[in-house]
Amino acid sequence: MPLPDARPLGVFDSGVGGLSVLRAIRNRLPHEGLLYCADSAFVPYGDRTTAEIRERSLMIARRLIDLGAKALVVACNTATAVAIQELRQTYPHLPIIGMEPGLKPAIDHSRTRKVGILATVGTLRSGKFRHLLERYGTGTEVLLQPCPGLVEQVERGALTQGETEALLRHYIEPLLAAGIDALVLGCTHYPFLLPLIRKLTGPGLLLIDTGPAVARQVDQELQRHACPQAPTGIGALRFYTTGDPAALQALFARLWAQPLRLEALPVS
Ligand code: DGL
Repeated sequence: MPLPDARPLGVFDSGVGGLSVLRAIRNRLPHEGLLYCADSAFVPYGDRTTAEIRERSLMIARRLIDLGAKALVVACNTATAVAIQELRQTYPHLPIIGMEPGLKPAIDHSRTRKVGILATVGTLRSGKFRHLLERYGTGTEVLLQPCPGLVEQVERGALTQGETEALLRHYIEPLLAAGIDALVLGCTHYPFLLPLIRKLTGPGLLLIDTGPAVARQVDQELQRHACPQAPTGIGALRFYTTGDPAALQALFARLWAQPLRLEALPVS
């Protein structure tokens, strides 16, 4: 039995979206310490170049490792799609877990053989996503829906109505009209829009959030690398942003559903 490893996990996203993944990790591994970094100064990643996202991801990874992270979770589909390979090359001995749109469970479930994916432009145009499509998409019509503007709405805390609802309606209605019976939330910001998405789709459609699957994978990777914390007690949580903590504190606390202290993490 290896000794317990009390070092925290480092989790990052372009913004607040990764908090949906952090929640799933917290639920599964409450004893692990967690560092969360939102690259709020650079959000959204979806419209940025591959080079920019890689550079930011590498810089944030460095900072989290300097803060003591024993593993990294890239809680962002877009950053995973374009930067995880570089991260793994740079830190070959570190467990690094990424996100991937839940295409396989959607296809496994679908009876109409039509599934929809909501994601950022960056994720959908990436080579990694094309491979996923080639691997699982045969025999099923996969309708890809890029969703410009949605990440920004979540970053504004506009989760329930108005412009967010209009945008979602615009993105989802054509997929429903085409006959999908499963919809993949291919961006970690979108689980915060679940009530609104459910309102638009009605109760019958399968909605897939990959957060819990990623938490399972984090658990397995920690075991495989022999670095889990002892499964007792509650791990410490620290929240960082590359933006202005004072401006973002209330939104973080609202999405995390608990009071918290947001700290600045300058990354350059
Ligand atoms: N949460 C990120 C994702 O999963 C959003 C990317 C963005 O900032 O555009 O893709």
